[in-house]
Amino acid sequence: MSEEFVEAANSGMSRAVPPEPCIVVIFGVTGDLTHRELIPSLYALGCKKLMPTQFAIIGFARRDWDDNYFRNEMKTGMKKVSECGDVEWEQFSKRMFYVKGDFNEDASGSYLKLREKIKAIQNEFNIDDNILFHLATPPEDYSTIIERLGEVSLSKSETGWRRVIIEKPFGRDENSARKLDEDIQKVFSEDQIFRVDHYLGKETVQNMLVFRFANPGFEPIWNRNYIENVQITVAEKLGIGTRGNFYETTGILRDMVQNHLLQLLCITAIEPPVNYDASLRSETVKVLNSVCKIDVENECILGQYDKGLMNGIEVPAYRDEKNVTKDSNTPTYAAFKIMIDNWRWAGVPFFLRTGKRLKSKLTEVTIQFKPTPHFMFPTHNRSEQHKNILTFQLQPNEGIVYTFMAKQPGAELHLKPVNLNFRYDTAFNISEPPSAYQWLLFDAMKGDQTLFPRGDWIYKAWSIIDPIIKKWESEPWIKLPNYPSGSWGPEAADKLINKVGCNWSIKN
Ligand code: BG6
Repeated sequence: MSEEFVEAANSGMSRAVPPEPCIVVIFGVTGDLTHRELIPSLYALGCKKLMPTQFAIIGFARRDWDDNYFRNEMKTGMKKVSECGDVEWEQFSKRMFYVKGDFNEDASGSYLKLREKIKAIQNEFNIDDNILFHLATPPEDYSTIIERLGEVSLSKSETGWRRVIIEKPFGRDENSARKLDEDIQKVFSEDQIFRVDHYLGKETVQNMLVFRFANPGFEPIWNRNYIENVQITVAEKLGIGTRGNFYETTGILRDMVQNHLLQLLCITAIEPPVNYDASLRSETVKVLNSVCKIDVENECILGQYDKGLMNGIEVPAYRDEKNVTKDSNTPTYAAFKIMIDNWRWAGVPFFLRTGKRLKSKLTEVTIQFKPTPHFMFPTHNRSEQHKNILTFQLQPNEGIVYTFMAKQPGAELHLKPVNLNFRYDTAFNISEPPSAYQWLLFDAMKGDQTLFPRGDWIYKAWSIIDPIIKKWESEPWIKLPNYPSGSWGPEAADKLINKVGCNWSIKN
């Protein structure tokens, strides 16, 4: 084995070369995302020996914290990483620093302080001049921060690299996304920009590409001749919790559909890319370019949760959540049909749905195959004739299930659906797949943009969703609330799929 490779600590994980020494600067470090995802993911990478040999993390935010406060805050509630204990955390957290600053200050204030801190840390720990900026702030601060980084010359280096990670939502519609990109590209070039959609960092989403393109068996039948319909479900049990202010101006279409659901659609429908590298993003743009205009009033069901029972406990309606208006029409559920107008998919309906406060937390992509052209078995079996179904279980119980017909043991011929089941945890001996953010941060430190959407993908995705948002915001066509918490969403969503003679594959 090459010495370059560092064997990851977990036996089920593959090998990887750590990134070059660098500093990660997180703007908005006091926010929930840093606490919940960014620091735990960087720490987990450290525990797997996948952080650079020399690194530092600098948090930048308004609150009156210092280095120690920052370290202690991040430690509380941190999920245990199996490879590491207190000693490792002590070592790791010594590389965490804090700079207090206002994002809107002019360049002579906190941004200069940040520049000096970076210089001092680079000298102290002998870190090359490589910096990854991560914008985990409210989106309205993105343009200002980028502009200031340019003004204090932190966006350039003679000897190293600069990269910037931008969190979603990237704009509120096509125009604002284009404007944001324009602002960013005044300071950073496209190869330095990493726009996040954390769904692409999920192991299981990447595995959909591996399944199709590293195995010969399914690709020949991955088309309109064999596939009857495709269903993409992203269901959540949680309500909007404390995010009322954010959600009221965002809603499910901007929060989940324009990004995560359309990415899953692209990964499912993509044409075979030439290489697994950043060039495969051109293929995802082609999928969106082939999406037909959605029939908003007839084939798009929006919903909002009412009160209801979740695990036997009564939970409030969306309109009774904190910071939500009593007559809010913000959708917390969406289901719709998409047709893809190209050679492979013409005529195959794709049904997408997502919602908050649904019965279970699960993300699945289901491929339903057409029945056999001729049924040779005794007719009493015909009613049992079952479509073959391939299910990518993206979370939880990560794996792939193939459901097909088998003969039930017995004297007479009876057919029954059975499952071939691949489970990540047992196949690779891991308790759960690593978080999406680990791989996205690792890739950004490495400069690999494969899993980060390009600007043109984002504009196109908005252009598909914008007409729904526009119509809904000017004239809602469904009365809300229309589904109880703890259900599978509005009944109208069942009718939407029943119209083509199909059912949602998960509804119990
Ligand atoms: C985020 C949304 O992008 O994705 C949240 O803002 C949502 O509203 C979350 O809960 C779901 O992510 P996951 O990985 O839990 O499916």
